[in-house]
Amino acid sequence: MKRAVTPGTFDPITLGHLDIITRAAQLVDEVIVAVAASPAKGPLFPLEERTRLVRESVAHLPNVHVMAFDGLLVDFVRSVDAQVVVKGLRALTDFEYEFQMAAMNYELASEVETVFIMAPPQFMYLSSSMVRELASLKSRTDRFVTAPVAEALAARFA
Ligand code: PNS
Repeated sequence: MKRAVTPGTFDPITLGHLDIITRAAQLVDEVIVAVAASPAKGPLFPLEERTRLVRESVAHLPNVHVMAFDGLLVDFVRSVDAQVVVKGLRALTDFEYEFQMAAMNYELASEVETVFIMAPPQFMYLSSSMVRELASLKSRTDRFVTAPVAEALAARFA
């Protein structure tokens, strides 16, 4: 059974993330979306809420499951017996950071393969931080996120 992990802070999950998760789910038997605690990033939404929003956003995908994690990604990947980490790549600016992280993860656990899926053009410049900024400025976000996330953002900045 091929199992992939799609990790992220998901603060909050966007349609860009959802696109990558959906496509990963077509490549392997099971996908585990791993929601990182990422305390250093000072997330807008607490871990429990980010996890709930991811869960509600992927509820229609039968082979996708959602778990929160703290600590090293490779330890989480091993603990759930996955073989692959799938990440999305957007514009060139992602590359350096993702390259570094993939190299470090390889150093820590060479049996874990990192695979990148290119974001489609309409999501190339979409990011959680951009969506948070839109919401903080009272703009609607429903073109960029799922309904539960748009609702949570509106409530947060009401
Ligand atoms: O959505 P993000 O914030 O870009 O996701 C980054 C994430 C959570 C995948 C990355 O920070 C991560 O893997 N964090 C866990 C700690 C870890 O394993 N770091 C890499 C080796 S030092």
